[in-house]
Amino acid sequence: NGYKLVVLGSCSVDFTTYAPKLPKSGETLHGTKFTTSFGGKGANQCVAAAKLGGNAYMICRVGDDQWGKKYKDHLKNEGVNVSYVHITKNETTGVAQIVVAENGENQIVIVPGANKCLSVQDVEESIELIKNADVLIGQLETPFETTYTAFKLNNGIKLLNAAPALTDIRKILPFCTILCVNELEASVLTNVDVTISNASMAAKKLLETGCETVIITLGSEGAVYMSKNEECPKHVLCEAVNPVDTTGAGDAFIGALATFLVEYKDYPLHQLIGAACAVATISVTVEGTQTSYPTKNDFFCKKYEYVQLE
Ligand code: RIB
Ligand code: NA
Repeated sequence: NGYKLVVLGSCSVDFTTYAPKLPKSGETLHGTKFTTSFGGKGANQCVAAAKLGGNAYMICRVGDDQWGKKYKDHLKNEGVNVSYVHITKNETTGVAQIVVAENGENQIVIVPGANKCLSVQDVEESIELIKNADVLIGQLETPFETTYTAFKLNNGIKLLNAAPALTDIRKILPFCTILCVNELEASVLTNVDVTISNASMAAKKLLETGCETVIITLGSEGAVYMSKNEECPKHVLCEAVNPVDTTGAGDAFIGALATFLVEYKDYPLHQLIGAACAVATISVTVEGTQTSYPTKNDFFCKKYEYVQLE
């Protein structure tokens, strides 16, 4: 396929500890397992897309430590184009310290390292790729001005995953084709406590910021979305499963959605969102992030249901 999917964003190594529950402040717990794996929202989304057959490019920065080179090799092995994966002198590769509880919930602290060096100049050096990307994906783990510059240049579908939550991102929203957030990120952007019961109101409020479509993901409850050219928000339902590890489920959703947007262009958006939810659902039933993303692509064998909201 000739479609180009470009992810501009973070690449981090995840140090994950599994424990019976999340520790309280000052509490020491006995964990059950420790793993080191490839993570970071940007790279997770890129690998999710590549695993589903997307022609994915990663624009990012890793450190000049042992992890930087390993990460680049890993992306290549996953079928990602790594021409714009830069090694950064005197920086460490980004890391994330993660705790996963038995109920699948997590807690994450990230140290950006080389991710914070992803610059406007890096965008300029990949200007042709960014301009011509059929889908350009950004998140908020790398400098905002860099993402903003890229979004203004691109002529395709611009998909912003406004994660982790940041308040001051208004100026990029008119350049977003799709803004995708979870309940927490939606709450930060709207100043309202967003739950499933008021998600349609939040989606309407977020649409006023200038993006074309807003998607609010609701974990096991699926997603609520609304587009400028549609009258009502829709709630796309999702199959419930017993979660083992929800880390990176949002990234699986974004990577899958990006791939489906170009490969199943003619499908209605609720079908694409339903299929992306199905990908994320599979990912939460398996430990880890990228390793839990599916490769099999039969997500369009079924129809996904939705409910029209007020
Ligand atoms: O979204 C999940 C990701 O967020 C993890 O892989 C971790 O790197 C954090 O940045
Ligand atoms: Na997982």
